[in-house]
Amino acid sequence: MKLWLAPLEGVSDCAFRTLCYRHGADLTFTEMIRVDSLVKKNTSSLHLLDLKNTTPTGIQLLAVKPQTLQEFVHVFPSLGIEPVCFNLNLGCPSPDVIVQGGGAALVKRTKRVAELVDILKKLDYPVSVKLRLGLNAYEKEKKVYFPLLKEVDADAFIIHGRHARQKSSEAADWTVYEACLETGKHIVPNGDITERKDIEYFKKIGIKEVMIGRAAILNPSVFQYLKGKEKVSLDILKKEYIPLAEKYPSAAKYKENVLAYLGKEMHSTKWLM
Ligand SMILES: Cc1cc2nc3c(=O)[nH]c(=O)nc-3n(C[C@H](O)[C@H](O)[C@H](O)COP(=O)(O)O)c2cc1C
Repeated sequence: MKLWLAPLEGVSDCAFRTLCYRHGADLTFTEMIRVDSLVKKNTSSLHLLDLKNTTPTGIQLLAVKPQTLQEFVHVFPSLGIEPVCFNLNLGCPSPDVIVQGGGAALVKRTKRVAELVDILKKLDYPVSVKLRLGLNAYEKEKKVYFPLLKEVDADAFIIHGRHARQKSSEAADWTVYEACLETGKHIVPNGDITERKDIEYFKKIGIKEVMIGRAAILNPSVFQYLKGKEKVSLDILKKEYIPLAEKYPSAAKYKENVLAYLGKEMHSTKWLM
C-alpha cells in the first residue's frame, strides 16, 4: 500500500513534507494554493510553491475559472519547479470559496471539472482531484460525485469520506469506496485512517493508495508505522524537524503548528476536529 501525505494548510510546507517522506510517505502534497493569486504573482501564494528538494510533491490548486487556469498553465513553466503531479481541490468547505463555485461546490459541476482537468493536463503531469462527497448530506445521499468519477478524465480521485458540512469529529464514511471502485477509476480513500487494521481493510477491498492527514500532524512517522515499523519518538522527530525547518525554511506559523501538535491526542485538539 502506498501512503500519501494530505495537503494541510499551515502545516505541509517543504520541511514537514520532507520529514514525512523520510518516515515512509510515498507522495506528499502542498497545501491548497489559489490559482488566481498565482497568476497575479501574489508573493505569499508563490511562497507556497516551495519545492526545494527531492521530496516527491504534488501541487494542490484551487481553481474555478478555466480562463485563469489556462493563464496558470501558460506561466507555470517559467517558475522552474518540478512537481510529481497536480491536484485540484474539490473539497474546501470554506463559505467564501463555495460562494464562488469552488472547492466542494465543484463536486457536482462535472463539466467544469472535466474542463479544468483537461486544461491542467496540458502541462503533461498526472492530474488528480481531491473531493468531498458533496456540499451537504443531501448531495452525499444523491451521490453527486458519481457523474464526476465516471466522466472526468483524472488520473486519480482522492475521496475524503465526508460532505462539506461535516466536521472531522464525525466519522468519515468508508462504505462509499467499494461502489466508487466499481467505476474502474483510480480511487484513493482519505479520512480517519490511522491504524494498521485500516490499511488491511482498504487492501482487502482493492485499494492501492490511501491519503493520511491529521495522523501525520500528530506523528509524522505514522507512515512507517502503517507499513509495519515502529513509530519514532517525539524527541527524535523534533530533533529532525527543527533543522529541516531552518534549512528550507518554514514560516513561524508552520513551525508553531507542527511543534504544537506533535504527540497530541487527536480528540484533545480542537483545531484538528
Ligand atoms: C490543518 C488542516 C489543514 C488542511 N488543509 C487542506 C488543504 O489545504 N487542502 C485540502 O484539500 N485539504 C485540507 N485539509 C483536509 C485534509 O487534507 C484531509 O482531507 C482531512 O484532514 C481528512 O483526512 P484525515 O482524517 O486523515 O486528517 C486540511 C485539514 C487540516 C486538519
